[in-house]
Amino acid sequence: MSERDTDTTTSSISSFYDEQSVFVTGATGFVGKVLIEKLLRCSAKLKAMYVLVRPQRGKTAKQRTADMLTDRVFDHLRTEQPTFTNKIIVCEGDIMKPNLGLSEEDTATITDNVSVVFHSAATVKFDEPLKLSVKMNVVGVKQLIALCHRMTNLKALIHISTAYSHCDRSQIDETIYPPSLPPDKLIETLNLCYCACARKI
Ligand SMILES: NC(=O)c1ccc[n+]([C@@H]2O[C@H](COP(=O)([O-])OP(=O)(O)OC[C@H]3O[C@@H](n4cnc5c(N)ncnc54)[C@H](OP(=O)(O)O)[C@@H]3O)[C@@H](O)[C@H]2O)c1
Repeated sequence: MSERDTDTTTSSISSFYDEQSVFVTGATGFVGKVLIEKLLRCSAKLKAMYVLVRPQRGKTAKQRTADMLTDRVFDHLRTEQPTFTNKIIVCEGDIMKPNLGLSEEDTATITDNVSVVFHSAATVKFDEPLKLSVKMNVVGVKQLIALCHRMTNLKALIHISTAYSHCDRSQIDETIYPPSLPPDKLIETLNLCYCACARKI
């Protein structure tokens, strides 16, 4: 690790997070885990980190998060900031459920306090049944955006995803091409409903 990487006093990125509360989905995943480690290690004044985690295989969201935090990726952080886990607040949820499966209490806490959102929860299986993929990676995103609209102090929403190449084109410009099917049409075609509070975007 370079000296620059550990010098949090001069970085405008790390100071951006001073006293901010962050909401992370997909925290137990490959990307989410290193993301939360990096944010906590390099932004020591970060106020709180809310993580959306679903219960799985007989374990509660809290148990799963506690297990995840024993991963060796957090060893360095544990040495530098032994109480870093105090900043992590587990919100049980599931991106396939209405309002991401969040309780009313957690929803209120998140919308009142969170200013930066990282959305990393997704299915990354390329052969997932289409309906499930769309439910997670399209409807889930839509619900997350609806939640963000209710945040009173939102500064940034970062959607982590995979870059797709338009392999049907012979020339690819630096532009955002329209989807072959509008997302709402896709949702409608698959007969998927989503939370009534999800605003059209
Ligand atoms: N890995 C890479 O090299 C890479 C590179 C570029 C971009 N990305 C993008 O980064 C994002 C995350 O990828 P990843 O590699 O971290 O995937 P991953 O290891 O499979 O993690 C996926 C995360 O999403 C969560 N999740 C899945 N379904 C959920 C649901 N219904 N409700 C709540 N949480 C759910 C998983 O939680 P559970 O633990 O409960 O399953 C896990 O935390 C994806 O959009 C991917 O395309 C990844």
